[in-house]
Amino acid sequence: MKLTPPKIKNYKKEQRKIVMLTAYDYPTARILDAAGIDILLVGDSMGNVVQGKKTTLPVTVEQIIYHAEMVARAADSALVVADLPFPFCQLGAADAVQAAARIIKETLVDAVKIEGGEKRAKTIEALTDAGIPVMGHCGLLPQDIHQTGGFFIQRQREQLLKDVAAVQAAGAFAVVLECVGKTIAAEATAALDIPTIGIGSGADCDGQVLVIHDVLGFTPEEQAIPKHAKRYADLHSMIFEAAKQYADDVRGMHFPVKELNEKAEPQS
Ligand code: KIV
Repeated sequence: MKLTPPKIKNYKKEQRKIVMLTAYDYPTARILDAAGIDILLVGDSMGNVVQGKKTTLPVTVEQIIYHAEMVARAADSALVVADLPFPFCQLGAADAVQAAARIIKETLVDAVKIEGGEKRAKTIEALTDAGIPVMGHCGLLPQDIHQTGGFFIQRQREQLLKDVAAVQAAGAFAVVLECVGKTIAAEATAALDIPTIGIGSGADCDGQVLVIHDVLGFTPEEQAIPKHAKRYADLHSMIFEAAKQYADDVRGMHFPVKELNEKAEPQS
């Protein structure tokens, strides 16, 4: 059964933890959907982990559409959320609605995620008025990297509480809390009716999200893996070893194609 924004919102009342991972392509999304992940996020983190760039800022609406269409098509049960990339969260309500509507129309994702708290309340309201479900994103905002100068734990309690309250009042159905101090995240979670989905914000949030490449040990080597990311597999080593074995087979002429061709029936 397909999850919807109201069902995800209701998880909080039901005290069910929300499990969210990023996904950027069809085969990965198929596996994560079959594994029972509740929400697949086509995050602008694709700029880092798929494109190998230093920030998320270069990611375009067209790139989000390209990846989100594959993920949405793969998900039978999971809710699929696509990031509104820079600068569409920042430009104001009209541009945000235009970009988000295009993403929804061309990909069939279920919702968009938008970075920012109080400052984005009008935009979130315009999106929800347009019938576009919105997931908020407060705390550390990677799209603000040039203003903030780095990735730090967010400890401005009052501002954070104002931000999440504004996001909820504007109509968001859930909110990501990125790198928010554990006790502040717990306080925000208790204060809100909508679920909080934490990343590096402690265990008291209503759910958790991680970047799939960090989970699988597939993050580009030159990128710092966030301290909060727990690695459950080592794809880097598996791919490296498989590629080396393949190279050895080809160079040592052990490649099975030769045998297969010898055994094959002559073509008439
Ligand atoms: O882009 C992304 O992957 C995100 C998550 C880190 C929440 O926004």
